[in-house]
Amino acid sequence: MIISSALSPNTEQDDLKLIKRLIWHLQKIEGAVSELEEAFSGFIGLKYCFAFNSGRTAFLAILQALNVKEGDEVLVQGLTCAVLITPILYLKAKPIFVDIDETLNIDPIDLKNKITSKTKAIVVQHTFGWPAKIVEIKEIAKERNIFLIEDCAHSLGSQYNGSYCGTFGDASFFSFGRDKVISSVFGGMASTNDKSIALGIKQFQQELKQPSFCWTLKHLLNPILINSFILPLYSFWGLGKWVLVFLQKTHILPRPVSEKEKQGKMPKHFIKKMPNELAVLAKHQLVKLERFNKHRKGIAEFYVQELGGSGFIMPFNRPFEKNNPNFMKFPILVNTNLKVILEKARRANILLGDGWRETPIVPFDTNIKKMSYQWGSCPKAEKIADCLINLPTHINISQEGALRIVNFLKNNNGNTGNN
Ligand SMILES: Cc1ncc(COP(=O)(O)O)c(C=O)c1O
Repeated sequence: MIISSALSPNTEQDDLKLIKRLIWHLQKIEGAVSELEEAFSGFIGLKYCFAFNSGRTAFLAILQALNVKEGDEVLVQGLTCAVLITPILYLKAKPIFVDIDETLNIDPIDLKNKITSKTKAIVVQHTFGWPAKIVEIKEIAKERNIFLIEDCAHSLGSQYNGSYCGTFGDASFFSFGRDKVISSVFGGMASTNDKSIALGIKQFQQELKQPSFCWTLKHLLNPILINSFILPLYSFWGLGKWVLVFLQKTHILPRPVSEKEKQGKMPKHFIKKMPNELAVLAKHQLVKLERFNKHRKGIAEFYVQELGGSGFIMPFNRPFEKNNPNFMKFPILVNTNLKVILEKARRANILLGDGWRETPIVPFDTNIKKMSYQWGSCPKAEKIADCLINLPTHINISQEGALRIVNFLKNNNGNTGNN
């Protein structure tokens, strides 16, 4: 079975062993959150780092610290995730969607067009690990006196001109979600060098409660159940998928995006601190970051080499210039109906669907209207969402696995030769 990046892709044997120990010692661990914050600050080179239960909560903390409020506009790119939008809506501010460029990142030209006197902040997402045009955008933000927030949910370890993504804006946030660069199933970090923004984030963090015992346990169980029970069942007529859906519907296993969030609501009860147990796991994974990203680069190079000239558009097959992407995912654009090709892949025991499909705000069943998105406002993002497949690059994909994906794609793409 070859898995996409949605099903616990960063979990290795040592993580499973650690998780079992963490379950055994649940609620007896202390000080791990501060240790993670310190280690993260040492890695990224930003003075102030604050951990939360997710990237979305870290983002909310930054928005609060910047005093984003009702009536303010926050610019975000099309081709993003619903949980980036819900914190903006939670504060009753308005998300304004900006179209994307050829690297699937926010387009500086459309960005300029969408700035108004109400624009309070620009969120720059480094999509799938490819750095956005951050220097140009920083210049625009500075000129117009607008806060710049970097969404580094995908880009931990990516660099522009030798500096890490996340070190250019007024503040940045990272995700340790299940399918992210490193993973503690859920978790996130808000970072800044600005003392007054840091004070705001710290105050927000201090006022939050710890997640419940049950919440933490569920999240620790997720990689164990996925790896030892659900994934093996995928080989039996896709049974694993139905077991997973059942366990998520009955709330035995956590979902990455809740039904409420898909309807534009950030549930208040979700906004919590990071538990120490998940902080131990995140710190353990941070040590592996360099190896993970080196592996991703090698697999991305392999896709470029093997798929070049076969009719696929590969947005990340371009000169690096000053960019050093982490290749968290390797997007390609296909000429075939997405649903059909993903289903064919599943039948060939290749799980490619990672949720980034069909709509400019994922998951595909998000209520786009409730996100304040207007169809037609980001035509490029809408078009790309219709033909995007993310190829996995994570540590559990070997070169043989990547070759199976390549062979499958070559045999199943309506080839137009427009590479
Ligand atoms: C682009 C983007 N930003 C922010 C987030 C939020 O991260 P988290 O899931 O840790 O809340 C995600 C998560 O999926 C994302 O894809």
